[in-house]
Amino acid sequence: MELSEESVSKLKSYHNLSIFLAIGVYILILLGGYTKSIDAGLACLDWPLCDGQIFPVDRVGDIKFWAEYIHRFWAGIMGILIVYLFFKSRQMSSIVPRLQQVSISLIVLVILQSIMGGLTVTQKLHPLVVTGHLGLGVLTFTVVLYNFTIINEFVRRDMK
Ligand code: HEM
Repeated sequence: MELSEESVSKLKSYHNLSIFLAIGVYILILLGGYTKSIDAGLACLDWPLCDGQIFPVDRVGDIKFWAEYIHRFWAGIMGILIVYLFFKSRQMSSIVPRLQQVSISLIVLVILQSIMGGLTVTQKLHPLVVTGHLGLGVLTFTVVLYNFTIINEFVRRDMK
């Protein structure tokens, strides 16, 4: 396929972002697992704030606070990057149309997952909510990998 220099650079940048997201969401799942395993799920009793503050300075010595806070913070970064991915996919909708559909489904998943994450706290770690949060997390990672597979295949096959 004949592509302009501008398109090639956009595709490469999308490819790089997709790799970063795949690694980043994997790390997010590990952070969630760590939060759960050290019993830090209720280290912040509210959501989206923590102890009613954006950053509760008096908690800096508490490892449970850090686990929960870093998990939330990293989830926020991943959410912003997924929105960015969507805008990038729109710029390439004429070259690889499927990317736009996949990135829209990622936005939906990340919104649902944030709501579910908030519910794990407000519902005091209700087993069904925690299970739903785990399930949606795995699904989000799967779609992030699917997105990577599509762009990776395109870059390898059609950009030679
Ligand atoms: C895309 C975003 C997110 C992903 C992929 C994700 C993923 C996960 C995963 C895989 C776990 C471990 C679950 C388990 O072992 O059963 C977890 C735990 C947890 N997540 Fe998230 N999470 C996300 C966003 C959030 C947000 C925004 C919050 C906000 C409060 C949150 C709160 C929690 C809490 C409190 C736990 C610990 C649950 C427990 O102790 O049982 N998560 N997360």
